[in-house]
Amino acid sequence: MYQLSFSLNQFLTQYWQKQPTIIKGGFTDFQDPITPEELAGLTMEEEIDSRFVSNLNGEWTAEHGPFNDAKFDGLNDSHWSFIVQAANHWHSGVAELVEPFKALPNWLFDDLMISYSVQHGGVGPHIDQYDVFIIQGMGKRHWRVGAKDIGQYTDNHSVNGLKQIESFSAIIDDVLEPGDILYIPPGFPHDGYALEPSMSYSAGFRSPKEQELISNFADYILAHDIGDVHMHNPALATQDGFGEISDSDLNTLTNMLIKSLDNKSTIDDFMGCLLSQSRHQLNIIPAEPTWDMDEIANHLHSGLRFEKVAGLRSLYHQNSENTVYINGEVFQIPVNQTKLTRALCNQELLYIEQLENALDSQAVNLIQDLVNKGYWYAKE
Ligand code: SIN
Ligand code: CO
Repeated sequence: MYQLSFSLNQFLTQYWQKQPTIIKGGFTDFQDPITPEELAGLTMEEEIDSRFVSNLNGEWTAEHGPFNDAKFDGLNDSHWSFIVQAANHWHSGVAELVEPFKALPNWLFDDLMISYSVQHGGVGPHIDQYDVFIIQGMGKRHWRVGAKDIGQYTDNHSVNGLKQIESFSAIIDDVLEPGDILYIPPGFPHDGYALEPSMSYSAGFRSPKEQELISNFADYILAHDIGDVHMHNPALATQDGFGEISDSDLNTLTNMLIKSLDNKSTIDDFMGCLLSQSRHQLNIIPAEPTWDMDEIANHLHSGLRFEKVAGLRSLYHQNSENTVYINGEVFQIPVNQTKLTRALCNQELLYIEQLENALDSQAVNLIQDLVNKGYWYAKE
């Protein structure tokens, strides 16, 4: 079990989206949840997003996975790194490392990325738009972090798909050892090089941009056939200027636009659907054969459990616990079953003791649906 050695709440007050910092011994006696060999194995899977970055003789190259065994044969013993995105979706030990960060909202959490680097390996100086906690596992890595980007850094996009910047002067310059954590808010340039074979675990947090909210909302209202109306003005009169947009027409059209954004239940559902979609592929395998309701009820009543697919987002709005948003879909929870909401959204495991009154058929039906979709799966 992974436990932070410091108060996350105090940390947030002092540093979150304010300044980068190193927390020495953020985890005491840190044990890597995965070996470099297992991580290399993940880079060979089609559905898993991985990269290989090399900087031998100052020449940067980056390649996307999947890779095969041959990739790892005959590599130099320095100047390369490989990276696996959302490793928590594919490895249960790695998923454990997310647990201590669950005091932060699920919708804000993006993924746990892992990099394995040999000496001098890294991805070069760059700026991210994410809040990230970089946890040092095995080995040591030298990190430099610069002052926040206010346009003073020169982009150097030409580096083989790596969005690097030229160079920066450091406000943090230190060596991370196992269990140390480097927190970097968005916009602070950083650069980390391994001093010896090293594992880094990056817990990344990301909120949608304003432009993503607007473009996704447009998609949502089209998909739900909302606002399929033209402006209605039976009082139209002639005007002098053919090319003029009158103030009154402008107002009416502007109000139509504002009104479309002013429906609380539409916005609530839209946000729930948007925020419950992971940005990374999930290991969802629909049940085969499917479960019937008796089988679901028997499984739970005999004390067995269902486990949520790692990284699946299951969310509810505060004060509205009868609607649950899972992986972009809306589900209704029976009125007397809000314990089910909390079990689905706040826990990884689903078992009988969490559920209020005896399971009613609506609740069993919902669980059946979720299990048959492969969102939860039987855990003995
Ligand atoms: C890495 O672990 O190599 C990259 C992490 C980062 O700088 O975002
Ligand atoms: Co970065």
